[in-house]
Amino acid sequence: MSDQTIEHQVQTLNAELETRLQEIKTADDVNNIRVAYLGRKGKIADLFKVMATLSPEHRRDAGQAVNMFKAKVQSAIDQKKASLSDQDRSNQFFDISLPGHRGLLGHHHPLTLVLREIKSCFSRMGFTIAQGPEVELDYYNFEALNIPKIHPSRDMQDTFYISDDIVLRTHTSPVQVRTMENQSPPVRIIAPGRCFRRDTPDATHSPMFQQVEGLYVDEGVTFADLKGVILTFARTMFGSDMKIRFRPGFFPFTEPSAEYDFSCVMCRGKGCRICKGTGWIEISGAGMVNPKVFEYVNYDPEKYTGYAFGMGVERIAMLIYQIHDIRLFYENDIRFLNQF
Ligand code: DAH
Repeated sequence: MSDQTIEHQVQTLNAELETRLQEIKTADDVNNIRVAYLGRKGKIADLFKVMATLSPEHRRDAGQAVNMFKAKVQSAIDQKKASLSDQDRSNQFFDISLPGHRGLLGHHHPLTLVLREIKSCFSRMGFTIAQGPEVELDYYNFEALNIPKIHPSRDMQDTFYISDDIVLRTHTSPVQVRTMENQSPPVRIIAPGRCFRRDTPDATHSPMFQQVEGLYVDEGVTFADLKGVILTFARTMFGSDMKIRFRPGFFPFTEPSAEYDFSCVMCRGKGCRICKGTGWIEISGAGMVNPKVFEYVNYDPEKYTGYAFGMGVERIAMLIYQIHDIRLFYENDIRFLNQF
């Protein structure tokens, strides 16, 4: 056999290889080609056997041709292997049997949830929603609510002053005055909103918090109406076995004034650690609108009477969800918020 024949054989094998490479579909196909060409009994091994029979000068040229072909087969096989494993990976990407990733859903803030319930409860009793500014005139926050200049809440220690006569409102009661200024009786509103006080944050104090104010003014409104509304509210929010109690209190803008309590939401009145054994939980203040406030808004105190009440939204939310630290509402810790 001449070296011409070896080169010719290489050419034929090369053409055959090209076709077989085209037809490759699986890793097995690649392996079959490897065995057929590079294996111990493969086509290239055969060529080397033939080469051994050649004269030395022919053997050199033929050897070059066979070695080049061998290298070509090797690199073609490597390439095919690589592109097959790429395909493998992209097949895995489309593996429809893998479990999906659920998109993360947002949550309503617990205060939003509670505020919604409060609003819905009062709107079913005929209250509409009123709003006022968070940056408020001293006049509405204090003066027109009959809060005298010497009142401790007016102290720089307790109120954020923007200027001598502008403050961050310390309660939602100024919305009472603003609403009555713009509307004649009957008035039946609740005013939810943020309030600000110079308190150092701790488990029960936050320099920003939310209140809901209530106000009902008409002819013949009595303290009994106030009790009825507060009782309905307590039972809607905490269950039909709730009891309420009013204790004498003092607020400059109501006369008489009261503080009102709900039976303890934990022990239902039996006495526990939360209510310090009393069976009652203090909620907020309420009372009959002071005639002095009516004078500021030109309502006739001889003709009209009204009641007003306040409540802290965080306090209600803490009782509903049994949260023991008010700061949790404002830290935006996802682990906390995820629970609602
Ligand atoms: N504004 C009072 C406070 O922030 C709460 C309050 C008490 C509101 C009595 C009222 C009320 O409307 O009649 O502590």
